Amino acid sequence: MVHAAGALDDATVTALTSEQLRAVLRPKVDAAWNLHELTEDLSSFVLFSSAVGVLGNPGQANYAAANVFCDALAHVRRDAGLPATSLSWGLWEGGGMTGHLDENDLATLSRSGLLPMRPEAALDLFDTAMARDLVHAVPAWLSPVPGLSVLRDLLPDPDSERSPIPVTGKGAPGEAGSGGEEHDPAARFAAMDPEERSRSLLREVREHTAVVLGHRAEAGSEVDPDRPFTEQGTDSLTSVELRNRLSAAVGVRVPATAVFDHPNPRALARFLTGLLTPELPAPEGRTGQDRTTTPPGTDGDGDAIDSMGVDELVNLALRGPSV
Ligand SMILES: NC(=O)c1ccc[n+]([C@@H]2O[C@H](COP(=O)([O-])OP(=O)(O)OC[C@H]3O[C@@H](n4cnc5c(N)ncnc54)[C@H](OP(=O)(O)O)[C@@H]3O)[C@@H](O)[C@H]2O)c1
Repeated sequence: MVHAAGALDDATVTALTSEQLRAVLRPKVDAAWNLHELTEDLSSFVLFSSAVGVLGNPGQANYAAANVFCDALAHVRRDAGLPATSLSWGLWEGGGMTGHLDENDLATLSRSGLLPMRPEAALDLFDTAMARDLVHAVPAWLSPVPGLSVLRDLLPDPDSERSPIPVTGKGAPGEAGSGGEEHDPAARFAAMDPEERSRSLLREVREHTAVVLGHRAEAGSEVDPDRPFTEQGTDSLTSVELRNRLSAAVGVRVPATAVFDHPNPRALARFLTGLLTPELPAPEGRTGQDRTTTPPGTDGDGDAIDSMGVDELVNLALRGPSV
């Protein structure tokens, strides 16, 4: 018996409605429990669960809970001497639940450490789990780069004894090659002369913009410094990702709204200069005129956006301005 039913209805945890919980728990919790109660004399009882239950994923608290129930049910059944295997799948390539994901969505997931598996490879993992009679396995392809968000600090950083692992992985755009300053990027930028700092920060912004748009960092030279981010392909989610990457890369906390308030790479780099060197007078154009756009669906209410946290920004991306 293979239980493979599942449904998604994403929202951040504070915005989840009972209907959204019910819709996602029903095919997993209710259905798996009914099968557990109503079946007997089975040679195998396999639950298709998800790595989201083990690793978490923004906007999928209901789905994570539903899958963890399946994982726990496998243990309960084994304890009762019944067959059970729960497989917390990573990302399958191709249709199904992830069929709606476009190239950008898949690139975002890949950057978070979760790589799509070819169905044949996934089925090999299925066979392995069954052959080894595992009660719970996480058949998933995960990027080995330490510090990627889905793995957080689960993997040790081979280059450092520090813990937790820094958010930027080895080889991240703009990362210093060696020496102590690589661990204190803010100090590295602050020590530069103003022209070099401006150039480096603009390069940093363009490289990270290229990455969140699904390209290699080297493509940063093709990111137009004066064209609005939104016209170059960013949306609410990639803007939040860009802000997170820049926070890690420059070593200061970049406000959640920075990418909206300073809507092109040059304006954002100027803003970063201000964050890194607050004691210096603002260069021309650093404030005021940078704010020319707001996230989609906010009716230009910049103050409301300024007060939003990451959760609310992710909600905006998922459902529009419902809060
Ligand atoms: N695709 C992935 O990358 C991935 C990753 C991790 C885990 N998984 C797990 O693998 C399983 C299969 O996923 P998939 O990608 O093949 O998704 P899918 O094509 O959307 O299949 C989900 C199935 O669940 C059924 N279902 C939904 N709600 C139901 C309900 N209330 N009662 C009975 N059946 C219901 C659907 O039936 P209808 O077609 O009739 O609606 C559909 O056949 C799911 O359990 C999912 O959580 C998938």
